[in-house]
Amino acid sequence: MATEDRVLKSSVAAGDGAHNENAAERKSRKAERARAPVPLSHQVAGHKYGVHKVGILQHYDGTVLKQLQPPPRGPCEMQFYTQVFAQDCTDPHLLSLQQHLPKYYGTWSSPDKPNELYMKLEDVARRFTCPCIMDVKIGRKSFDPFASKEKQEEHIRKYPLMEEIGFLILGMRVYHIASGSYISHEQFFGRSLTKETLKTGLARFFHNGEELRKDAISTSIHKIRNILCWFEGQKQLHFYASSLLFVYEGSHHIGNAKNGNKALTGQEYRQAEPENKSNAHLSISKLKNSCGHTNCSSILEAIHNVKKVNGFGSHSLHHQSLGMMADMEAKENTVAEGKRSNGGKEENVEVRMIDFAHVFPSDSSDDGYMYGLRSLICVLEQILQD
Ligand SMILES: Nc1ncnc2c1ncn2[C@@H]1O[C@H](COP(=O)(O)OP(=O)(O)OP(=O)(O)O)[C@@H](O)[C@H]1O
Ligand SMILES: [Mg+2]
Repeated sequence: MATEDRVLKSSVAAGDGAHNENAAERKSRKAERARAPVPLSHQVAGHKYGVHKVGILQHYDGTVLKQLQPPPRGPCEMQFYTQVFAQDCTDPHLLSLQQHLPKYYGTWSSPDKPNELYMKLEDVARRFTCPCIMDVKIGRKSFDPFASKEKQEEHIRKYPLMEEIGFLILGMRVYHIASGSYISHEQFFGRSLTKETLKTGLARFFHNGEELRKDAISTSIHKIRNILCWFEGQKQLHFYASSLLFVYEGSHHIGNAKNGNKALTGQEYRQAEPENKSNAHLSISKLKNSCGHTNCSSILEAIHNVKKVNGFGSHSLHHQSLGMMADMEAKENTVAEGKRSNGGKEENVEVRMIDFAHVFPSDSSDDGYMYGLRSLICVLEQILQD
């Protein structure tokens, strides 16, 4: 009897434990749901969540989640990021490329759908109060050399001027001061631009309804030149259908809003709300570009006598350790931001390379991409001169 009693008691206790565990599990599931990623509110181009099967999401920690596209595109992009941000990467060109890309924090998947893999990336627009964002595809060809004849023809038909112009505006959104709202242009806007209307079309991105933001144009040119400098110094990669993502601060209250000197208007605050919540992911690089605007390859080669990596070796990175890296960097960056709170204009503009589903190893310079960069610089300079 006594034995039976004990058995009964222990089973009740076990039942209680199981009940508690379920409640705890339910609570953690609820918390997990509350922290579930949401569609990226400030996406300006590409596959959109809800419209397409895959899309760009925002993680609750402020990073961007890009779902892997079907092979070969998704794995190709992930391998590229993995290689560039590998902890044991010693290739000088890849190391200096890091500063021109969003930081890569490894892979992420939801506990509900562990087979759906996402790349976890720095949100380039995160630190801005009212980010004006533009996605520009770079190169004379928007398809890679392995694309089928049909694919090639489809791309050329969509924008026959790509070969001559070397870039295509895929989408933009601009903060208009007077209305306190964003004006957006989708892919059709860029495709409608001709050689004659290209300059005014591109200038729209830098016009806030009141004035042309020449400061943002000059800084963008400076940053594109730095990227061009990287391309001039490397012969190991070719980029097709890849973009430059431009971001500049659209609010009048640059820096002030963060310093608390001047509050945003109610309307501006509402517009800015999602981006305002955290400034954790700043875009400073551990590695400063060792070159100015001139040829950087010789300097880099002299400093680093390291063997060149050809092809895409797979460096497996554990995403949890990368998550920790993200946290540490966020802290470092927040400190850095404090130090630079009255920072120069450079801090108010971002130009980063994104979208690497069609990156290929090569042994020659990427003339198509460089043509596009030079052409873009040229049009921006014309806008400044007018
Ligand atoms: N790191 C990032 N930070 C902020 N916004 C981003 C970032 N990556 C992507 N975006 C937003 O998402 C859009 C689409 O991104 P991306 O070009 O990488 O995806 P995609 O075109 O759908 O992909 P793919 O061409 O591989 O099918 C960009 O135009 C930009 O608005
Ligand atoms: Mg894209």
